[in-house]
This record gives sequence, C-alpha cells and structure tokens, in this order.
Amino acid sequence: MLGLDTFPRIHLSHSATPLEKLPRLSAYLGCHIWVKRDDCTGLAGGGNKTRKLEYLLADALQQGADTVLTLGGLQSNHARQTAAGAAKLGLACELILEDVKGVPQRDYYHNGNLLLDQLCGAVVHRVSEPQNSAEVLSQVLADLATQGKTPYLIPVGGSNALGSLGYVNCANEILAQSAASHIEFDQIVLATGSAGTQAGLLAGLIANQCDISVLGICVSRPGLDQQILVEDLLKQSLNLLEIDTHLMQGKVKTNGEYYGEAYGMSTEKMVEAVRLLAQLEGLLLDPVYTGKAMAGLIDLCQQGVFKPQQNVLFIHTGGSQGLFAYSEVF
Ligand SMILES: Cc1ncc(COP(=O)(O)O)c(C=O)c1O
Repeated sequence: MLGLDTFPRIHLSHSATPLEKLPRLSAYLGCHIWVKRDDCTGLAGGGNKTRKLEYLLADALQQGADTVLTLGGLQSNHARQTAAGAAKLGLACELILEDVKGVPQRDYYHNGNLLLDQLCGAVVHRVSEPQNSAEVLSQVLADLATQGKTPYLIPVGGSNALGSLGYVNCANEILAQSAASHIEFDQIVLATGSAGTQAGLLAGLIANQCDISVLGICVSRPGLDQQILVEDLLKQSLNLLEIDTHLMQGKVKTNGEYYGEAYGMSTEKMVEAVRLLAQLEGLLLDPVYTGKAMAGLIDLCQQGVFKPQQNVLFIHTGGSQGLFAYSEVF
C-alpha cells in the first residue's frame, strides 16, 4: 500500500476541520449526531472540493500548467473552489458551467457561487442549449492552444482517483479525532454526487481497516446508478493506493430516496432540513447537496434505521454560498 505522502499536495485547506456534536439536533431526533465541518476548509467559503484540489492543483503545477479548466452546473461549489485555488496559485481559470433546468431563476444567474467565481477572476463560459459542455470544452481548449497556453483539465466535481485522495486524508483526520475524543462512530452520512468524496472516504477507511458504514445520499442521480459510479471510482482509488480491491466488497451504500426530481431541484424535506439545522444549531446547509443529505439523515433517524444509541457522523461538505441563489425556495 502506498502512503498518502507519495502524492504531491499543496495545502489549501484549514485542516483538521472541527468535529463537533450537534446537541440540540441530537435531542430533537433522539440519536447522537455529530458533524465533520468540511464547510470550514477555508478556501473562498470552503467545502469538500478544497481537499480534492490540494492534489489536483499540485498535479497541475507539476505538469507546468498555466490555466485550469473545469466543468459543472451554473451554481457549482466545485467551480467556486477551483476558481479560488487557481487564484491563490496564480493560475488562470476557465469554468464551463451548464444551466440546470427547473431551478429558481431570480438569483441563480448572478448571485451565490457564480458571483464568487467572477470575484476570483475566473472566466465563465455559460453553456445553454443547443450547445453542450463537451462542445464548449473543445472550443475553449482550441482557443487556449491558439493562445499558447498550457491547460490542466479537472473533471466534474474534481472526481478522479487523484482528487479522491483528499477524502482519504479526511478519513485519517476523522479516525484521529474520534480516537482522541473516545467516540466510536457507527455510521457516516454524506451527500454523494460526482462520487469522489464517498469513494475517497471509503478508500481511507479501508486503508485503516476500519469498517464504519458510509451512506451516500444521492443528489445527482438515482441510487443504483450512483452506487455503480462510486464503486467504479473507489476501485480506481484503491488501485492508485495499491490496496487490494477485494476489500471494497459490500462497502458502497447509497440511498436515492431524497434525490427528488433532479439535480438542483428543491424538495420539501430539503427546505425543512435547511431550516431545522439553522434554527436548532445555527448551522448553514445548502439547497443542492447537504440539505438533501441531512433530510435523509433526519428521516432515517425518525424511521429508527439509525438507533438512539448509535453515533452518527454527518459530513458537512459545504455549499451554503448556494443559498443565495435559491432564496425563492426559502
Ligand atoms: C456542497 C457539496 N456537497 C457534496 C458534494 C458531492 O461531492 P462529490 O461530488 O464528491 O460526490 C458536492 C459536489 O459538488 C458539493 O458541492
């Protein structure tokens, strides 16, 4: 097995991020609920992508890139953190951002993450029909080549094996923090989209021979499709770390019950969860990822799937900047 320090990394995040109990939510639900504050990774508002970018941007620099490109939805948190990371390292940043249908309109096109992308100096290419992201990407790459630039392409959500190492790191942090505070977690819950967070976290737990159950609440696609995506990336991540892939058997668990109609589309339970956490704990979730994941956690506690004596850890993967694009739904 390869150690994490085999891979070049640039420190961009405030870590270790805090691990806190949520006492009022725990009393409300009758379960022990904890939160890993990866909304506090620090880079232009923080979030889970900062951990992935530590490896991806280190690789970009090693390859001599002068421009970073990535893709996502118009309110992508990943795009915001990429823009900020690139700015911090003196790299140019080009973002290819797709309209997401059925979302609130008023603030979506100029507030929230999009405003912050522009403040960080990124060039935003908005993809609207009939174009698609792949076409715009080829055009941007061709233009950069004409200008003599050296681009580095980061996949959607920073989710490849290298990016997922950020969550191997996070798994190590969680295990060190839980050992230091004598807490044994039974269950981890997180939002899963492009899959790198769940895959990386599982790879880190497997590397530590730890079998805390990890449940990904789907926000981008139904449960079975998401499970296949996470499994595929987990396999790649284990291969990168030279860990036996047989060890991942049965580990990838996803739940598509809280996804709603589509990526980025609000659900009633998401709105309730965002309000509840703000009002019980002063904790800001987001409308696209953590709001839906927390809706799942709340429901699974209320259904008795998570038991009162269990310690449940929610990974707060960030995104509250997106609230300002969704004001209408609140
Ligand atoms: C706030 C937030 N939470 C969770 C996720 C999902 O993480 P992943 O794409 O690694 O599955 C994202 C991805 O963009 C995100 O922005």
